[in-house]
Amino acid sequence: MKSSIPNFYKLPLREKLRILKKECDLNKEDLNLIYQYQKLPDFLDVENNIGPFKIATNFLVNGKDFFVPMEIEEPSVVAAASHGAKLVRYGGGFWGKYLKNLMIGEIQLVNISRLKKIKEKILENKEKILKLANSTNKFLTKLSGGAKDFEVKKVGEFLVLYLKVDPKDAQGANIINTMLEKIAPFLERITGAKAILKIISNFAIERVVKVNCKVPLDKLNVGTFSFKEVAKRIILAQELAQKDVFRAVTHNKGIMNGIDAVALSTGNDFRAIESAVHSFAARDEKIKPLSKWKIEGNFLKGEINIPLPIATVGGATTTKKAQLALKILKVKSAQELGVVAASVGLANNLAALLALCTEGIQKGHMKLHREFLKKLSSK
Ligand code: MEV
Repeated sequence: MKSSIPNFYKLPLREKLRILKKECDLNKEDLNLIYQYQKLPDFLDVENNIGPFKIATNFLVNGKDFFVPMEIEEPSVVAAASHGAKLVRYGGGFWGKYLKNLMIGEIQLVNISRLKKIKEKILENKEKILKLANSTNKFLTKLSGGAKDFEVKKVGEFLVLYLKVDPKDAQGANIINTMLEKIAPFLERITGAKAILKIISNFAIERVVKVNCKVPLDKLNVGTFSFKEVAKRIILAQELAQKDVFRAVTHNKGIMNGIDAVALSTGNDFRAIESAVHSFAARDEKIKPLSKWKIEGNFLKGEINIPLPIATVGGATTTKKAQLALKILKVKSAQELGVVAASVGLANNLAALLALCTEGIQKGHMKLHREFLKKLSSK
């Protein structure tokens, strides 16, 4: 399969669907679902819109081609992602992986009289506690996921247990909350303390995905701007994001344009993803850009590091629309989906920077959006 279809956005709707049907093995039921969405009053046959979502093209990730369903009101974001991906394709595509796949949940213990003793008691029972947590989800442990470890720390006057769980292809909230609620009474029994909060943390610092890409410099010409000038300006834009919190936040918003749209099309909890990503950007008390661009040899090289608690099973990923999105994506795991979503974020970031530091955002991006809104309101 090749996701690089010249002028996909200009093709008649039936031709776009023919390509998707063929490349993503869509069946009658899938197509019927798409037609239902096309009958909705707000559906517009514009750009890459096919019905429930818009399709980004050109994505080559870890050597594999992807059509990426994006659920977002702005067609320009999908056009930008496809454009960024097209440039990255010239450099061999995106390459990425998760560094770890752990989510953390916490239990707040209060009324701690003999702190050291209580901590010791909990650590003595480590194996028992992990076993108890894993007894709530035999299926997950069979897949070699589940509760792996925990830490106990004093936080103010509280003692907090941080449970680390590999949720495999799930987002993790249900799994972890169930585990925490199971082990809390046991902790109370062995410590004499009271367990108050038992909840997953959205600070997903142990579920970070890293993606790299490179674009040959000579592909960076924009209008009358030479590629050398554009490359120089991208580096200056990166420097500003590094030093100026106002710019860093907007730089990151552009990345999330793409990631949220993939999260939404696949039925994922985009609020959890937003919380994880933005808190990660601010983890050193200063908000930093989530991506980095630099020039090396004849290439502009990009890198993104973000926590991405994304799922291919459970929750709303089971809806018909999300299942269709996952089918179009052909991802084999949540980690593969996370790598694709982070690549989309990086592609959007690149396309935004290219526009911002040359002709400006109003010419292409906003013009497209204005035209879209005009068509929608005159429908
Ligand atoms: C607009 O939705 C996103 C941008 O502002 C991102 C950026 O400034 O990098 C264009």
